[in-house]
Amino acid sequence: MDDRRPWWRTAVVHEVYLRSFADGNGDGLGDVPGLRERLPYLAGLGVDALWVTPWYPSPMADGGYDVSDYRDVDPRFGTLDDVDALLADAHALGLRVVVDLVANHTSAEHPWFRAALAGGPGAPERSRYLFRDGRDGGAAPPNDWISAFGGPAWTRVTEPDGRPGQWYLHLFAPEQPDLDWTSPEVQEEFDDVVRFWLDRGVDGIRVDAAPAMAKVPGLPDAGHPPGATFASSEWVGNPHWDVDEVHEVFRRWRRIGDTYDGDRLFVSEAVVNGPERLARYVRPDELHTTFNFDYLKAPWDAGALRRVVDGTLAALAPVGAPATWVLSSHDETRHVTRFGRAHSGAAVMGFDAAGPADLALGLRRARAAALLTLALPGGAYLYQGEELGLPEVEDLPADALQDPTWERSGRTARGRDGCRVPLPWSGERPPFGFAPDGVAPWLPQPEGWRALTVAAQDADPSSTLSLYRAALRLRRELLGEQPLSWLDLGDGVLAFSRGPGFRCVVNLSDRAVPLDGLGRVLLASGDASAGLPPDTAAWLAP
Ligand code: NOJ
Repeated sequence: MDDRRPWWRTAVVHEVYLRSFADGNGDGLGDVPGLRERLPYLAGLGVDALWVTPWYPSPMADGGYDVSDYRDVDPRFGTLDDVDALLADAHALGLRVVVDLVANHTSAEHPWFRAALAGGPGAPERSRYLFRDGRDGGAAPPNDWISAFGGPAWTRVTEPDGRPGQWYLHLFAPEQPDLDWTSPEVQEEFDDVVRFWLDRGVDGIRVDAAPAMAKVPGLPDAGHPPGATFASSEWVGNPHWDVDEVHEVFRRWRRIGDTYDGDRLFVSEAVVNGPERLARYVRPDELHTTFNFDYLKAPWDAGALRRVVDGTLAALAPVGAPATWVLSSHDETRHVTRFGRAHSGAAVMGFDAAGPADLALGLRRARAAALLTLALPGGAYLYQGEELGLPEVEDLPADALQDPTWERSGRTARGRDGCRVPLPWSGERPPFGFAPDGVAPWLPQPEGWRALTVAAQDADPSSTLSLYRAALRLRRELLGEQPLSWLDLGDGVLAFSRGPGFRCVVNLSDRAVPLDGLGRVLLASGDASAGLPPDTAAWLAP
């Protein structure tokens, strides 16, 4: 590999959903000290970096994506000293650390929002948010915008004099009021927040809800049909999503980031309409990389996956940004389960159409998909637990569900808790080493996960954990920035080379694919001794 290229161009980043990774203080919730203790596991897995979901003080209306103080750590997650120790240990192990920046909205408990409520209509404190008078004499929301968690994107406040008053915008939960990014005060505050974390030594920043940060002036109706749900990958010219002015924010942050040493990374979460719109987020003076949701949403189908791969690479080439490949996150149904369903593509934010899942089939495909993902050019994001082959937990009792989607959808969409169940590390019963024995994790773990713990898979060469470790090791040895060239092995087969020394074959057909003449099998997700069985993949050295 060419070591002069920035690390993030080819990095494999492990997403740490902090609440569910490891509980260091015995309260049933994951935290920074718990993560710190487990860093050697991540180093041993072979990833390059971790992205840690928000650790800031938060009322947890949306699992920490509702931030009430951007320069501190919630006591349930630890302290700033714990973060400093985490950064030091991670760096000593050769791992980089990316933090999450939630700048589209604050928590409703943020001092700014409290001041905005207390100030009343017309108060300067309201100009940091999007307060508006309602229609129909004030009784109806100012426009037809909708929340990603279901329902309208507006909530009416009670004014300090006790009367029903203005409405404020929240593209997510009501506890997450949207900031007005045309406010110079908002812009300057976040310049400072970005510097605060870069000064502390973080290696990168993940930009939450990036396309949401600019709105069309005047806040015109979007034309959403009644009962519409968020479908940002289909919207064209939407006034509250992917509005062109949003790019000014990224240019601003990039100018700040570029004053730091060490190739600091900005990566955006941006679910937008197609790869060309996505490429705009990673133009040379904007963010460095962006999650590829088209890949995550693609069904288990060779044609669909190839179209996404080609479309992504073609759209990113002109701006010179590397792709990122991602199959799962804390917002979507785990891909073991998705790939076992008749409709195997993902929806985003917990609105997946469920359906029976064949988990044995899903796991076979997920293992093959791991080899595909890690063989594609660019970087990759792994969601904690996918290296263990964890499925979605679909039978969480209703009273355990905490995702705001559940209530806001009128209890029709169960939301994202099923992919957030705490990790099983060891032992025969919950909490499986996630928390001290006898402590109940914040979401219940299935008893059946005893077979999926890190300890259970550790020494088993056929385990999913061993497959990921082997793939990450080989990837480091063999793959850099070599371009992809497709090979034709017939319908339903994705096959490509990366330079003269590497080939990847993924069989999405229902027949075995002969591997004769393709080279020596370096790694396979199933038994490839008599050709490549359906729903498996192999890496080969020609
Ligand atoms: C995206 C985050 O990944 C998700 O968990 C959160 O609910 C929304 N943004 C709102 O911050």
